[in-house]
Amino acid sequence: MLAESVSAAFQRQFHHTPTLLVRAPGRVNLIGEHTDYNAGFVLPAAIDKAIYFAIRLNNTATTQLYSYDNQALYTTPATEVQPGATLWANYLLGVVAQFQKRGIQVPGFDCVFGGNVPIGAGLSSSAAVECGLAFALDQLLETQLDRMTLAHMAQKAEHEFAGVQCGLMDQFASLFGQAGQVVRLDCRSLAYEYFPFDTSACHIVLCNSGVKHSLASSEYNTRRQECERGVAILQQHYPAVQSLRDATWEQVQALREELGEVVCRRCLYVVEENLRVEAACHHLAAGNLQAFGQEMYASHAGLRDQYEVSCRELDVLVAAAQTAPGVFGARMMGGGFGGCTINLVEVNQVEEFIRSISSQYKQQTGIPLETYQTTIMAGVEALEPAVVH
Ligand code: GLA
Repeated sequence: MLAESVSAAFQRQFHHTPTLLVRAPGRVNLIGEHTDYNAGFVLPAAIDKAIYFAIRLNNTATTQLYSYDNQALYTTPATEVQPGATLWANYLLGVVAQFQKRGIQVPGFDCVFGGNVPIGAGLSSSAAVECGLAFALDQLLETQLDRMTLAHMAQKAEHEFAGVQCGLMDQFASLFGQAGQVVRLDCRSLAYEYFPFDTSACHIVLCNSGVKHSLASSEYNTRRQECERGVAILQQHYPAVQSLRDATWEQVQALREELGEVVCRRCLYVVEENLRVEAACHHLAAGNLQAFGQEMYASHAGLRDQYEVSCRELDVLVAAAQTAPGVFGARMMGGGFGGCTINLVEVNQVEEFIRSISSQYKQQTGIPLETYQTTIMAGVEALEPAVVH
């Protein structure tokens, strides 16, 4: 078990037992993409792939971080935390900095982390790392911050130490996930509602395009700016529009010329995607997976044609899913430009689906397809006992 390996690595590395062991999951998002930073709706869930942390305060002025996956150690003076050239360390240092910004003293600590959330696959390995450490420090320092505060701190860490102006979805999902439930978040009011999702009746299959989303951070920030430009123009005509969440399809269409072709397309996508999340939740509550799946396909088409964050490999995967038997719906997931598609597949068709999509993908792209069947798990949690032998 990974938790045990991480704990054992801690003992080897630091010659101590960790005081705390934490599991921080990655996430899937069923629908509601690029809506979070537009104050809209998302429908994510925490999954069984996770990053594990073994951690302990070390009573020194030095913090030691060890990446189990990279087998690499990073040390820093506990009080002088800066982003640097070691990218994996930045996600952790960014979290420490958020505690310090709140006036919380973070003494030296030892930490080993590692897990099985594939990197660059759109499953939010970075949010898992940030949220896991935020939760662990909160426990160790007894700061008693609530989970929403921790989610915001983890998001800020990503903004300030990783340079991605992400929304709140990934960090929220990692911290607020519940077993067997997807959760709809209203990214404006931060109200959320759980919906049961039975993965024994319908499997979630992730297809990893194998394309790392290297373009993602720069294009991601560009999309944010395009949306902001859209809001600024819409606001001049419709003062009630504070974000794209407030805009209607008709309002955007009416300003097509002033917005310009590209910004108009981006705005229409966001407006339509928010409506799709609402419709999808309705279908889910009614047990209508067919209709839910259609919303997913429409979401993908919007991400491909209007928001332009897909790529050929993701499109090949979704097109292949669309013609495969037993698939309710499929779409690209996360920031885009690579990573995974999410596919909802009838349980008794899963094997056949994986066989046929793998061979089609190999044939059309030359890339061997990696697939993961995933289940929905609880959000970040402390594991008992802390030391597993
Ligand atoms: C990334 C970001 C999220 C969200 C998605 C797109 O995963 O971290 O905040 O914006 O992209 O929906």
